[in-house]
Amino acid sequence: MTSRYYITTPIYYVNAEPHIGHAYTTIVADVMNRFHKLIGCKTYFLTGTDEHGDKIVQAAQEAGVDPKTYVDRISGMFRDTWPKLNISNDYFIRTTDPDHIRVVQYILQKVYDSGDIYFSKYKGLYCVGCERFYTERELVDGKCPDHDKPLVEREEANYFFRMSKYQSWLMEYIEANPDFIRPERYRNEVLAFLREPLEDLCISRPVERLSWGIPLPFDDRYVTYVWFDALINYVTALGYPDGAKFDEFWPVVEHTIAKDILKPHGIYWPTIIKAAGLPPYRHLNVHGYWKINEGKMSKSHGTVVRPLDLVPVYGLDAFRYFVLREMVFGLDSNFSEDALVQRINSDLANDLGNLFSRTLAMTLKYFDGKVPPFGDPPDEMDRELIAQVEEAVRQTLEELPRLGFHKALIAIWECVNRANKYIDHVGPWTLAKDPAQLGHLQTVIRNLLELNRVVAVLISPFMPETAEKMLDRLGVPKPALEIRLSEDGRWGSLREGTPVSKGEALFPRVEKTDAAAGAPQKEKAPAKEKPAEEAPPEPIPFELFKQVDLRAGIVKHAERVPKSKKLLRLLVDIGEERQVVAGIAQTHAPEDLVGKQVIVVANLQPAKLMGIESHGMVLAVRDGEALQLLTTQKPVTPGRRVS
Ligand code: MSP
Repeated sequence: MTSRYYITTPIYYVNAEPHIGHAYTTIVADVMNRFHKLIGCKTYFLTGTDEHGDKIVQAAQEAGVDPKTYVDRISGMFRDTWPKLNISNDYFIRTTDPDHIRVVQYILQKVYDSGDIYFSKYKGLYCVGCERFYTERELVDGKCPDHDKPLVEREEANYFFRMSKYQSWLMEYIEANPDFIRPERYRNEVLAFLREPLEDLCISRPVERLSWGIPLPFDDRYVTYVWFDALINYVTALGYPDGAKFDEFWPVVEHTIAKDILKPHGIYWPTIIKAAGLPPYRHLNVHGYWKINEGKMSKSHGTVVRPLDLVPVYGLDAFRYFVLREMVFGLDSNFSEDALVQRINSDLANDLGNLFSRTLAMTLKYFDGKVPPFGDPPDEMDRELIAQVEEAVRQTLEELPRLGFHKALIAIWECVNRANKYIDHVGPWTLAKDPAQLGHLQTVIRNLLELNRVVAVLISPFMPETAEKMLDRLGVPKPALEIRLSEDGRWGSLREGTPVSKGEALFPRVEKTDAAAGAPQKEKAPAKEKPAEEAPPEPIPFELFKQVDLRAGIVKHAERVPKSKKLLRLLVDIGEERQVVAGIAQTHAPEDLVGKQVIVVANLQPAKLMGIESHGMVLAVRDGEALQLLTTQKPVTPGRRVS
């Protein structure tokens, strides 16, 4: 029987636009969904928006529109964001959907009929400005945190859910199922809550205080408390109470949340499900918080990081890779654009991008661009390489089901790094010079191609676009992402003679652009002049110098890069037209450059600066403040090589 897998994200409040925190949870769920598909599970992936309650009414009032118009607008922003982050959700739920309202009322009635909801008076501290009760813990200096005013004691009649009745059951269940709530620190936190007496949960609000909610089916003077309404989305989306989907996926449901909403998910929800006569969820996966400059993300401090500001500049897969590699699931992490740039340039451009392009370039050069057969039997170094790949497959299979994203990525990158070293050690270019070494060369290149294929499959849940590009260029037949990891972890499943293609660099190098508009960036230290006594670089062989392709060119077009003080975008004729981004805007006006003869490094790996690809570099000499462009004494034909 095919295994099943059901993953959910929280349904997000529609009182704020999607930011890196929302994006992280949703990307985590996406990786889990894609991974389980890859290993052959039938999956279901749910996300959506939480649209009732006083927070939403307040946000709508601030925006000057009625709640319905407001929730439609913000919910739409979430719905439109997810495809841009390549999120593979099967369903997007809204708590204002009529079928959700029906399911909430069905469960309320069921629990009411069984005697677990009762009517009672509630006495507490009430803020007239906020129109709500506060608990002692929420107060700041004994006052309302928003209005800075003392609260009044008030009595209100409401409906209560007998949560306390399920306290000992829940404790025992958590004790007996150690990974019900994971990682362990959050399980311990919930157990600590449960060691204190658990109060019953107030699940209604009088209509005169809040009308934007789901009416109680047994008393229309009240609407449902927003958490009781919201949690039920996880069963609504499966067509509860009828339908095969519910039977199929409910037994394997996993929720993913951050630590902020541990209590509703770790305590309210399991007891509500129990009272409704449903089995508990399988896992609650809880992660930490993204912080900015070690602090909380805040709108008023302008430190909200929005994924849609970063993705166009740095690339989607680079962003997905970064958040999954950087955060240890369960712990807090600090976001900084410097760290993002650093990871892109080292892990992605230098390690993976370089390995892939070297492998394909050598296949083109030595085997006419076709997958060679395995030649000589594997030697010690080949066997070590294969063992490293097997280890990466093993660790990915072991770590992903328990959310060890960074560990799986480390294991995959160990394999990438070993392959780069393998190339440097073996030196295929030397083997290629000796016809007697053809068998060895075939084995080396074939091993590298196979390794790249396995790496592409392993990274496919994290970076689906990159994986697809890699498999495509390796000539793996489509649909590439449906390849099952269990079969595909095998060595040697490429077909001999299949043509491969090189394509553009997977990850051009990037420079920091301060695209995370919200995040205050550190002042950049002024570029240091190199001290005069600094030792000159080591001598290099002429052969190495010859590898630098310097060409004479003529600037055809020059313009400023928007929002950048330093950069100009140039189109340079070097026998062909090249787009080059040059850091010369502070010393050269664009209009003075057109028609100028320049010298261009034509074979640099492409780089992205402020989101614009640069395919070369214009040479210049700095002399104090002045920057002189290198040129020729007399005009020469564009494309002539400098020697
Ligand atoms: N509507 C409720 C959830 C109901 S689920 C039945 C809610 N919404 S929320 O919009 O506030 O989203 C909270 C969730 O957003 C967190 O649990 C987490 O998934 C994500 N994040 C919000 N800020 C975050 C960080 N700074 N860091 C990481 N994730 C965070 O609560």
